[in-house]
Amino acid sequence: MIPDKAPGEDVLHASGDFKKEAHVPSFEKYKELYVKSVESPEEFWADFVKDFFWKKKHNGKFLDYNFDVTKGEIYVKCMEGASTNICYNVLDRNVNDRKLGDRVAFYWEGNEPGDEKTVSYRELLQQVCKFANVLKSQGVKKGDRVSIYMPMVVELVVAMLACARIGAVHSIVFAGFSAESLCERIMDSRCCLLITADGFYRGDKLINLKLIADEALQKCREKSFPVEKCIMLKHLTKEDEGTTPGSLSPPAKRACPDLQVPWNSEVDMCWHSLMYDALDECEPVWCDSEDPLFILYTSGSTGKPKGVLHTVSGYMLYTAATFKLVFDYHPDDVYWCTADIGWITGHSYITYGPLANGATSVLFEGLPTYPDVSRMWEIVDKYQVSKFYTAPTAIRLLMKYGSEPVHKYKRDSLKILGTVGEPINPEAWHWYYNVVGEKRCPVVDTFWQTETGGHVLTPLPAATPMKPGSATFPFFGVVPAILNESGEELEGPSEGYLVFKQPWPGVMRTVYGNQQRFETTYFKKFPGYYVTGDGCRRDKDGYYWITGRIDDMLNVSGHLLSTAEVESALVEHESVAEAAVVGRPHPVKGESLYCFVSLSDGISYNQKLEAELKKLVREKIGAIATPDYIQNAPSLPKTRSGKIMRRILRKIASNERDLGDVSTLADSSVIDQLFENRCSTAV
Ligand code: WT7
Repeated sequence: MIPDKAPGEDVLHASGDFKKEAHVPSFEKYKELYVKSVESPEEFWADFVKDFFWKKKHNGKFLDYNFDVTKGEIYVKCMEGASTNICYNVLDRNVNDRKLGDRVAFYWEGNEPGDEKTVSYRELLQQVCKFANVLKSQGVKKGDRVSIYMPMVVELVVAMLACARIGAVHSIVFAGFSAESLCERIMDSRCCLLITADGFYRGDKLINLKLIADEALQKCREKSFPVEKCIMLKHLTKEDEGTTPGSLSPPAKRACPDLQVPWNSEVDMCWHSLMYDALDECEPVWCDSEDPLFILYTSGSTGKPKGVLHTVSGYMLYTAATFKLVFDYHPDDVYWCTADIGWITGHSYITYGPLANGATSVLFEGLPTYPDVSRMWEIVDKYQVSKFYTAPTAIRLLMKYGSEPVHKYKRDSLKILGTVGEPINPEAWHWYYNVVGEKRCPVVDTFWQTETGGHVLTPLPAATPMKPGSATFPFFGVVPAILNESGEELEGPSEGYLVFKQPWPGVMRTVYGNQQRFETTYFKKFPGYYVTGDGCRRDKDGYYWITGRIDDMLNVSGHLLSTAEVESALVEHESVAEAAVVGRPHPVKGESLYCFVSLSDGISYNQKLEAELKKLVREKIGAIATPDYIQNAPSLPKTRSGKIMRRILRKIASNERDLGDVSTLADSSVIDQLFENRCSTAV
């Protein structure tokens, strides 16, 4: 399946000194290790297993699983019966056994240039122990779920690791989500406590996070799920206030007179006062390999988000190994992943993978365009970043401003560049490679999902010749296949559904509280396989090219949204009778939201309604789901059985006149009308 020799034509080979010392130095070595990883996973993973501390060692089968719905319940177990603690492994082990206490864990860089703080492994361990004691004092126990809704501050890492230390399950909700979304997630996983912050700045914009958190808790109360404990980190300052003692991420330099911090002394507790009294030693709670580590919600095609559940040991091994090999990590590296910890990229490649390796990372609170479009390169230069990981949407955004803002700063510290989140178009790839990396740094295009825990298709920087736009080959232990509509495996060059034939340690274990949905979503369509939901092409050299989602999902700036989720928000408006949402290609975001709405009888469309609809979607889901286009559509194209034909709506949204087969359309006259009323400019 993987060619014996790397192809020599139309590929780019990494150059640079790093190749000599790379962990996987050649394609031949990759191939040899790959075969071992698939044929004897236990032997392959043993090298990683021995690096970690095990309170009770594993004996038995390394991976035990059933991936076939026709043979019973789907399950994956990795090293079940062994006991360990992931927080101990990423902190205590580094500080005590590896003597890395003085090493920088994070260079925190705030939204405002000049807001910065360096945190060592020792300090991080101390803060985590303190906060773990705080959680214990609030009655949080092993297995309890804790919701975290915070900006990109070091305390977010402290909160998640403190949960892991006592075996509590963290459920982080991205701080851009709305009160409604937060409430839904708190209730779905039945969290007992919420951790948040007063607020933060995104560029110039103040986000009153506590206000939103309170609204979410109020909604929970109304739905008879009271969460009566909320810990708030004070991150911002009002005018003339000093900094908060003991704070790891100093408050923003800019004063924020508009900050509103509602306080309910029955529920709210101050992070800093709790920490003040807390002891800085805390014995970790030893967990079984298969105990839950965290829940992270991802959009599902029915509209209701799914709580993806990951467990301790498999996730630990997988994020540690992918981080080490895909970014070819060495101790002198300074690594920077620009994702938010609220997404899986931040969980795996800001917190767990890098810390497991004892790496030094940049943790950035701000935006790539604030205060100007050179900010990223300024930070790269400031901290001498050697490994840089970002998303195609950020690359395309910065590419618009040309190479001058990049050239303002030296980037000679850079060695490897990475991308994740969506297919990268070759133009953006070349700009990244030529302008940012000066043709010196290989680009690792990493394909993976919240569900896969870590990279599953990816180049290894010294081993895999690159093809711009291709995520290349599987990571160790991962066995991809391409299926046609009838579920037959296609050989050689082909295109179809991307599936995986067997589990790897980092794959999700279930949908929290809904095993049925887990099986239906990922395993039912093609029994025996994990179905990614992505389309994929394999070329003559065996390279994999992701072609995009093949379900009702949209990928906006590297984040998945379900069309159903946005549609159900729109129809909540009393004037909307029916809504259909499709993606329209967008030069920066990848896809933008194009919404068709049919109004109730007697209602006419106007700008006020349009503004209300936009606001409604933001309130229901969050700013990432804000519609870019809303079209008044008195009738929608439907099949005779009444099913909306989204395929046609997608063509209308992007003004493609060639509609293909329209024979199943009930009334073809709606098409002309829809083309006539197209929105050509965003709302
Ligand atoms: C979906 C998963 C994994 C972290 C970020 C998103 C798309 C992701 C790539 C890539 C082509 C990609 C897929 C996938 N995707 N990386 N390198 N090339 N497509 O996590 O929100 O779970 O989204 O993102 O469509 O299924 P997510």
